Amino acid sequence: MKIYARLFLLALAVFSFGLLQAQDDHCPAGLPERPALSRHIEQSDILSGRLSFDEVLKHGEELFTVLFNICDGQGRPATTGGTVAREPDETAFSRVSAPDSNSCFSCHNQPRVGGGAEFVGNVFLLAQHEDPVLESTSMMSSNHRNPLGMFGAGPIEMLAREMTTDLHSLRESALAEARERGEAVTVTLLTKGVNFGELTMAPDGTQDSSNIEGLDHDLIIKPFHQAGTKISLRQFSANAMNQHHGMQAEERFDLNPDIMDADFDRDGVKRELTIGDITAVTLFQAALATPGRALPDEPERRADAIRGEQVFDEIGCTSCHIPELALESRFFSDPNPFNPANTMTDMTQMVSFDMTAVGPRPRLERNGEGAIVRAFTDLKRHSLCDPASDPDAIRFFCNETLRDSRPDVGGRHGSEFFITRKLWDVGSSAPYGHRGDLTTVSEAILMHGGEGRAARDAFTDLPFADQRAVVEFLLTLQILPEAE
Ligand code: HEC
Ligand code: HEC
Repeated sequence: MKIYARLFLLALAVFSFGLLQAQDDHCPAGLPERPALSRHIEQSDILSGRLSFDEVLKHGEELFTVLFNICDGQGRPATTGGTVAREPDETAFSRVSAPDSNSCFSCHNQPRVGGGAEFVGNVFLLAQHEDPVLESTSMMSSNHRNPLGMFGAGPIEMLAREMTTDLHSLRESALAEARERGEAVTVTLLTKGVNFGELTMAPDGTQDSSNIEGLDHDLIIKPFHQAGTKISLRQFSANAMNQHHGMQAEERFDLNPDIMDADFDRDGVKRELTIGDITAVTLFQAALATPGRALPDEPERRADAIRGEQVFDEIGCTSCHIPELALESRFFSDPNPFNPANTMTDMTQMVSFDMTAVGPRPRLERNGEGAIVRAFTDLKRHSLCDPASDPDAIRFFCNETLRDSRPDVGGRHGSEFFITRKLWDVGSSAPYGHRGDLTTVSEAILMHGGEGRAARDAFTDLPFADQRAVVEFLLTLQILPEAE
């Protein structure tokens, strides 16, 4: 294979540990069972080029698909899914508060590894912070979310990163101007054509965030989780490994200055996932194929699909589902500089690749030095709820009772506010809605209220043939078969 030549090694720093063997000291004694994961890798194996890009992706895929067992360190008797210590509990699995599964693939498999899943893959969000929740799946004690696919997730993370960088420099220049003028300065938070409201900076650095829209007050766009709470694939993956499988990333526990405990979860296995492992599973997701389009063969349906795209624009759907956003850089890089403290942020460990030139096909579309991302989102949170929402709509898009509240970042998310759903894979991602409780695209359209009401009403006012064309268009947006 020759495509891995484009793996950029931006730095070389070797971690102080030797090459790892998966720990098997918690395997049943004397029996032939071994860890399911064939090996661990080090960040230095990636940075030095000792492993090719393809080999790193292969290892990432293995981490994503393997069925972790107790020899690997599966389970977390003394750690909640929210990564804090708790009284040791012998509950091996809980479908509600997790560990709920043995593999990422169990919930990310549609239409193939890395995609989403149907209703059966739902997660009971927020329950992971509790001691085992065994008795209730009631929506009073958790928010039900349906898995999303990660096809195109690399470009999405990079879009959010470029937009965050813009927003932060708007904040800095507003502050500089406020200091110069000796009075508060207000700026419009506009990046890549998406308007996140206004920010006012006082000369003493005080930030008035009351007019920010659809974004946390730290001005970091968090494109992952449907309510927009996670910054990077790396951050998400380290969380998911702990929550779903009880596999601890060493950057989160062993090497975290606040913790520094190699067996934080008290399951008898140390160093469960290395920094190199988390990089590999991150790159595997970031490099997944980019969704595309599959037009129907039948001429009439084909013409409908093409016309449907125009109608989708004319009735205002594209005000949130923006058809394309441009990336200035076509490179994915990890770690994300905006990662929180408990996720690897050491930029001397950076790995990067050209999303338009390597990885599975179809790949991201190149545009000069950058790329075009046709994801049909604005990466902004909106509320699709309003008093006029009929009881049905409230049951679907406005059904969460728990507020995913994080006073540290402000902003409004969860329960009602969700990021505009990416639609570039909508033809392959049934069922629909954040809970995955709508089986067709047309139902999902009809449930839009609140900020989406005008577009939804424009849709229902269309002649039937135009409604049909819009749905036909949306169904062409698909995760395509892997191309050679
Ligand atoms: C029990 C099912 C389940 C398992 C197992 C699971 N996930 Fe997920 N995953 C979900 C659900 C549900 C969501 C959507 C969460 C939300 O929107 O709040 C999700 C979302 C994600 C996202 C964010 C996608 C986006 O666009 O917002 C990433 C990344 C992800 N998962 C990675 C992983 C990795 C890596 C693993 C394995 C370590 C994993 N998941 C295991 C159910 C699962
Ligand atoms: C105000 C912004 C906004 C507008 C306008 C808007 N949407 Fe949405 N759309 C969203 C959000 C937010 C979601 C996620 C809802 C949820 O799951 O809670 C969504 C979800 C969807 C979904 C479900 C996708 C899935 O995979 O679950 C479809 C389909 C959809 N929109 C189509 C449309 C169409 C067609 C229009 C125009 C009639 C439209 N949207 C207008 C914000 C908007």
